[in-house]
Amino acid sequence: MRGDAVIYQIYPRSFFDKNGDGIGDVAGMVAKLDHLAWLGVDALWTSPTYPSPNVDWGYDVADHRAVHPELGTLDDLDTLIAEAEKRGIEVWLDLVPNHTSDRHEWFSERPEYYVWSKTIPNDWKSIFTKGSAWQWHARRRRYYLHQFAPQQPDLDWWNTDVRAEFEHIIRFWLDRGVSGFRIDVAHGLVKDRELRDGVEHMRGRPEVHDVYRSWQQIAREYDPKPTLMGETVVKLEQMFAYYQGLDLAQNFDFCTAAFELDELRPLVEKTMHGLPPGAIPTWFGSNHDHSRLATRWGAGDERRARAALFLVLTLPGVAILYQGDEIALEDGDVPENRVLDVADPSRDPERTPLPWTRSGEEWREPWLPLGDTRRNVEEQRAETSSTLHYVRDLIRARRELGDGYETLPSPRGVWAYRRGAKTCVLNMTPRRATYDGTRLDPWEGVIV
Ligand code: GLC
Ligand code: CA
Repeated sequence: MRGDAVIYQIYPRSFFDKNGDGIGDVAGMVAKLDHLAWLGVDALWTSPTYPSPNVDWGYDVADHRAVHPELGTLDDLDTLIAEAEKRGIEVWLDLVPNHTSDRHEWFSERPEYYVWSKTIPNDWKSIFTKGSAWQWHARRRRYYLHQFAPQQPDLDWWNTDVRAEFEHIIRFWLDRGVSGFRIDVAHGLVKDRELRDGVEHMRGRPEVHDVYRSWQQIAREYDPKPTLMGETVVKLEQMFAYYQGLDLAQNFDFCTAAFELDELRPLVEKTMHGLPPGAIPTWFGSNHDHSRLATRWGAGDERRARAALFLVLTLPGVAILYQGDEIALEDGDVPENRVLDVADPSRDPERTPLPWTRSGEEWREPWLPLGDTRRNVEEQRAETSSTLHYVRDLIRARRELGDGYETLPSPRGVWAYRRGAKTCVLNMTPRRATYDGTRLDPWEGVIV
C-alpha cells in the first residue's frame, strides 16, 4: 500500500445491483471498477460479503470462507480481485474476529471458542440492547458474552484455537489475492481474563496488540505485504498503541469531531505529534456506522461537503472515502416501517443505495429506500464542475503533496498547512477570506 493511498469503502448491498434483485452484489463491484479506476482510488475495502443471517447486515458472520449467496459466489470475488488488480486497485476485506453469528457452526460445535459464565459476572453492557452483555443459553445452562446483538456471541481470544482459526482464515484470503483487511472492532477482541467490572475490561485491553503482531508476521510472508487496518473506536491517546501491530488505525476522534477549525486543527496536530515514527495516519468523515459527511459536516451545504473532502484528501497519510462521499451524497430518509438496522438509533440513513442515475432506475426495488437522487454519479461525471470531478482532481493533486504536516499562521477561520513544497489552505467559514494574497470563497480549499 502506498503511504498516501485513497481507500474507497463499499457497503455491498447498497453499491451496485448487477442482477436486479434490489441488493447490491459482488458482480456490481466488478461492473463499476472502471469507474473507481477513473476516480483514482488505490484500494477498495468492502464491508462483509460473507454468509450471514443479517441480524447485523453481514457483521454476524456464519462462514468466514465463503460469499453470501445474495451477494454472489467465491468465483465472483476471485473475479473482483483479478479485475481490480488489472486496474491497479487493491481489494481489502472486512475481517470480523470479535464475534460470529450464533448460526456459525462453531457456536454449536465449538462452544469453548466463546466466552461463558455460570452467573452474570460483571456490569458489561451490550452496545445494541443496552442491557447486560450476558445472555442465558438454556441448553448449556450458562451465560455467553455478546458486546453487540445476542445473535453475535463474542469469541474467546484467550483460546489459542480461536487464534489458530483466524490465522487460517487470514491465509485463506491472502492466498486468494486479497491485499488487506479492515479489522472489525479491533479494540475489542481480548477481554479481561478475570471478567472484572468496567467497560475498560471489555474493550481496549493491551493484550490485543499481541494478536496483531502475530497477524503482521503472517502478512510479512506475502509480497507486496498486505495491509492491516483496525477499526479502532478508542480515544486518540489510546489509538497510537495500535500501530504496534497494525499498519493503520482508524482515527475516530477525527471522524466524530464537529466540522470546526478550533476542534479539528488541534486534533490533527495531536494526531501528527502522537503517531510513532513512520506511522501512517488515517482520515475519514463517513462510514456505514456514522452519518455521511455531506450531512453531518456539510450540513446540507455542498461547499462545506467539499471543504470536508478537501481536508480528508490533503492531510498526510491515508484517506478513506465511504461510497457516496465522492458525490457529496447525504443520508437517506428511511421511514420507520422500512428500518432494518438492529442498532438504535438506526444506521440505515447512511446505508441507503448509491444513486447512479437521477431516475434511479438501476435500483428498482432496493432493500433500503433510495434517497434523493439529485446528486448522482451519471450527471456528476458529465459535469466537470461537479463534486465528483472535484474529488477526482484532488486525488490527482494529492500525489504532488510532500511529506509531513505543519500548521502555518493564518487569519481567523482559515486553516493553512504545509505539505512539503506545497501549502494547503482551507477557508472554514461561510465568508470570503484571503491568505497570503490568495482569495478564497466561502469553504474553499486551494493548494498553492
Ligand atoms: C463494527 C461495524 C458495525 C457493526 C459492529 C458489530 O463496529 O462497523 O457495523 O455493527 O462492528 O460487528
Ligand atoms: Ca443483486
